[in-house]
Amino acid sequence: MTRTIKPLVAGNWKMNGLKADLAIAAAVAKGADAPLRQAVDLAICPPATLLFTLTASLIGSRIATGGQDCSAHASGAYTGEVSAQMLVDAGATYVIVGHSERRTLHGESNAQVKAKAEAALAEGLTPIVCVGETKDEREAGKALAVVKKQLRGSVPDGATAASLVVAYEPVWAIGTGLTPTPADVAEMHEAIRAELGPILGKATAAGVRLLYGGSVKPGNAAELMNVANVDGALVGGASLKAEDFLAIARACA
Ligand code: PGA
Repeated sequence: MTRTIKPLVAGNWKMNGLKADLAIAAAVAKGADAPLRQAVDLAICPPATLLFTLTASLIGSRIATGGQDCSAHASGAYTGEVSAQMLVDAGATYVIVGHSERRTLHGESNAQVKAKAEAALAEGLTPIVCVGETKDEREAGKALAVVKKQLRGSVPDGATAASLVVAYEPVWAIGTGLTPTPADVAEMHEAIRAELGPILGKATAAGVRLLYGGSVKPGNAAELMNVANVDGALVGGASLKAEDFLAIARACA
């Protein structure tokens, strides 16, 4: 497939990873040869505790790092929160916002996700804004409507094609081994790009990277990554194995 947008493959380590697991990032860096890095942008989003050290360990590898969430606030009395500026200070390029685990387990609303994405943009971080429907919503035929509403509510104002990534992650596909059909992914990604037009302007919307996420594995990556309007992957479980993460990245090249 000829790509006009350089794909991004980002690993979301979630709440996994201790110092010993810096070895995973080192193995990714070792395995990502020059042609792969030329063809695909790679990023690892470790837990906040590892971000600084992991970023430092990747200097010279051209593999970026990201946070998994950030506060909507710049600084102050928000115990336990991590600001966008802190992520930048630790070396991050990206931050995942609105992951379904945050939306579901922490009750984050579209408005909160948008505020976080705008806080990220204000610090020069690229937000990876996650959207996706639940199983019930898909079965009720509401997947497109749900995702469009999430986009209208959570995409930050003022983003450019280079400063925003959107990840479509059907909630029912995350960590389950289930994936939508390529036809369903194609329909959704086309709808997402169309919906971004009125929000960002058509030219910007045409260049925003749209990632697919949810049970991406080496065995299904080629099929999913060759769908039109799929510009890479947000990878959970498989990003904890360097070989699997690299195999997924190669499927995008
Ligand atoms: P998974 O997670 O690849 O383990 O399904 C994806 C994600 O939650 O970003």
